[in-house]
Amino acid sequence: MEKSRSKFGSTLGAVMALAGSAVGLGNIWKFPYVVGENGGGAFILLYIGFIMLIGFPVMLAEFSIGRKSQMNVVGAFQHLAPNTKWYLMGAFSIITSVVILSFYSTIAGWTLEYVFLSLKGDFANITASEAKSIYENFISNPYKTIFWQFIFMGMTAVIIIKGVKKGIEKFSKIMMPILFLILVAMAINALTLPGAKEGLSYLFVPKFDQLNSNSILAALGQSFFSLSIGMGILLTYASYLSKEESLVGVSLKVIGADTAVAILSGIAIIPAVFTFGLEPQAGPGLVFITLPQVFQAMPGGTVWAVAFFILLAFAALTSTISLLEVPVSYFKEKLGISRKSMTWLASFVILISGAFSTLSFSVLSDVKLFGFTIFDILDYLGSNIFLPLGGIFICIFSGWYLKSTVIIREITGDSNPSVIFIRIYTIILRYIAPIAILLVMLRTLGLF
Ligand code: PHE
Repeated sequence: MEKSRSKFGSTLGAVMALAGSAVGLGNIWKFPYVVGENGGGAFILLYIGFIMLIGFPVMLAEFSIGRKSQMNVVGAFQHLAPNTKWYLMGAFSIITSVVILSFYSTIAGWTLEYVFLSLKGDFANITASEAKSIYENFISNPYKTIFWQFIFMGMTAVIIIKGVKKGIEKFSKIMMPILFLILVAMAINALTLPGAKEGLSYLFVPKFDQLNSNSILAALGQSFFSLSIGMGILLTYASYLSKEESLVGVSLKVIGADTAVAILSGIAIIPAVFTFGLEPQAGPGLVFITLPQVFQAMPGGTVWAVAFFILLAFAALTSTISLLEVPVSYFKEKLGISRKSMTWLASFVILISGAFSTLSFSVLSDVKLFGFTIFDILDYLGSNIFLPLGGIFICIFSGWYLKSTVIIREITGDSNPSVIFIRIYTIILRYIAPIAILLVMLRTLGLF
């Protein structure tokens, strides 16, 4: 089975696929707002610091587990930790990817409706209250929302069926540059708007007095979610990397692309929001209510709106394919069934769980647990509990169970890595990273 395992065809393709997973809704609708709220440039410095000190080493550890074992998310642990229960960590990653995909595909589906609405020119001359009612009417329409979620999962499945090289890699190589070009064009356009100065200072002027303990946790949490760390995606994709590939090189490129897209999104969005006298807000409200109003006020607004929602759909699609690949690669190898059958089967299961999430905005809006809808619960569980737990497990597995030299050899390709490097890396993996992630998790859960 191992011999016939697929591989990425080129470094560029692998980086595009990984960057595709990392770049997603988190970069576009969350980062710009969180930066503004937490001291602008001061937060960006903190965020980059965390990415380099914690995100980067944990990413490397997850990469090494996948590349060393050349196996799926369960097989990797069985291979590296035979006759132990560590393989349950792989099973946990599969559950996490299904949970995240269930709510992520709800929003991903919305992006397609918005591509369609902007193509029809529906946002021309809309007022704030019209933008709000278009959004509310749409998300509470069970048929339309389920329809788009089906279409989105269908698109995801079609790419996954084509395989690692002809599917994931090829489509990421098409979608990521388009996404990037649209974003750069939007950012340049935003810089010419009257609100550019105000927007840029909101984003970039460092206001260290606005940093507080919450900002520190927000920076770390955002860095993990944004890099897709801790759920087996990086591990699965790394198992398709060849042994010649430099893991450090690939990680730095992925981190660079993810951070660049987050910062460019801020430049593209915030000045425009200020120009038209609106308030930046986080989450769906920003992209689905505020931005349509911004676009309609711009010259060539329909074109910008179409381009932006295509960008958003691409950002989501390169993330949903990475999420679906985790269960597909495991079950097809485990059960020995074809990629195609396994993809349809997994998509079917996710459509069912995803439908509950989507319908929790309409017919199932009264189904609540502790005041949370099904969508909220899946989002909360996936993003605030499962993802950080996955990150902590990676640290414990690679820092405590495996000797860190095993990981370091895989990273450096050097059989005698320097002692200082081993010491520092071990301290990060054993203590700094897991404790930091644990603190973020407890804080988000309100337990500390
Ligand atoms: N990294 C993606 C983003 O920034 C989200 C994501 C998380 C995707 C986990 C896959 C897995 O939006």
